[in-house]
Amino acid sequence: MKKHLLSIDDLTIDDIDELFETAAQMHDVQGRSVKKLPALRGRTIINLFFEDSTRTRSSFEIAGKWLSADTINITGKGSSASKGESLRDTVLTICAMGVDALVMRHGASGAAKQVSEWTDAVVINAGDGTHEHPSQALLDAYTLTRHIGSLEGKHVVIVGDLTHSRVFRSNIKLLRKLQAQVTVVAPATLLPAGAKSWAESSGFAISNDLDAVLPTADAVMMLRVQKERMSGGFFPSAREYTVGYGLTKDRLALLRPDVPICHPGPMNRGLEIAADAADAAQSVVLEQVSAGVAIRMAILYHQLAGEGNDE
Ligand code: NCD
Repeated sequence: MKKHLLSIDDLTIDDIDELFETAAQMHDVQGRSVKKLPALRGRTIINLFFEDSTRTRSSFEIAGKWLSADTINITGKGSSASKGESLRDTVLTICAMGVDALVMRHGASGAAKQVSEWTDAVVINAGDGTHEHPSQALLDAYTLTRHIGSLEGKHVVIVGDLTHSRVFRSNIKLLRKLQAQVTVVAPATLLPAGAKSWAESSGFAISNDLDAVLPTADAVMMLRVQKERMSGGFFPSAREYTVGYGLTKDRLALLRPDVPICHPGPMNRGLEIAADAADAAQSVVLEQVSAGVAIRMAILYHQLAGEGNDE
């Protein structure tokens, strides 16, 4: 395993297998009444989040705590970043206190990589702009594997705001590594520049006809419409988006009942996903959240246990 986890590109197939195996063990710990392992006793992990987050930040925090690490949260709002301190100064200041890992979320694509060049601490990318979100892709694939077995040859359909989605970018890389067959569905305005050539080189399909694709899906992943990253109108109205690309009650009927429905959250209910789909028996949205803790325990364990450990 490489020192930092910045991108899915950092992981070999063996690394992924190992992470999934460890996550399965961690998942068992999650079911116990006493959820504590001593693996990261004495290690300090800082969650440095410059963008809003509910699940990723608390998931990394819980994962660190259950492994007995000391975890501390620093957010952009409320830190000296809001007084004009540069990212480099913030990072150097935190690292001068003697931290072992930085879990980083930042609005700029490439921020985690940049930070990894400034510090000796292990850097874990928890989302950098529209670039990557590797722990999310890992928890998505792990959740799917538990439902539909090996992803090799399985048809995974990813739907929504691809332009602004780091989840989509990390997922494509991971799903293709695991040899899934992938179709992405989006309106032309939410298809990133260069998507066609990326699709050709990495072997995924692009469609704008959700109704045609859903009947052959083995798994569906809905993505949030990321209004906070949009500077103009990417679609005429919310209603039109839902009619074309929402997982509505009618579309749910096009899916086999055993096809898992994923969404990384937070969901815009009624926009990209109807309540009927979000709360359907085949929805795995909350399972993704539980799996998220197990995957992040596995990531922290592999990146930190043993690394720089004097004992
Ligand atoms: C995603 C993110 O922040 O990239 N959320 C998450 O981490 N669970 C997706 C999103 O914000 O839509």
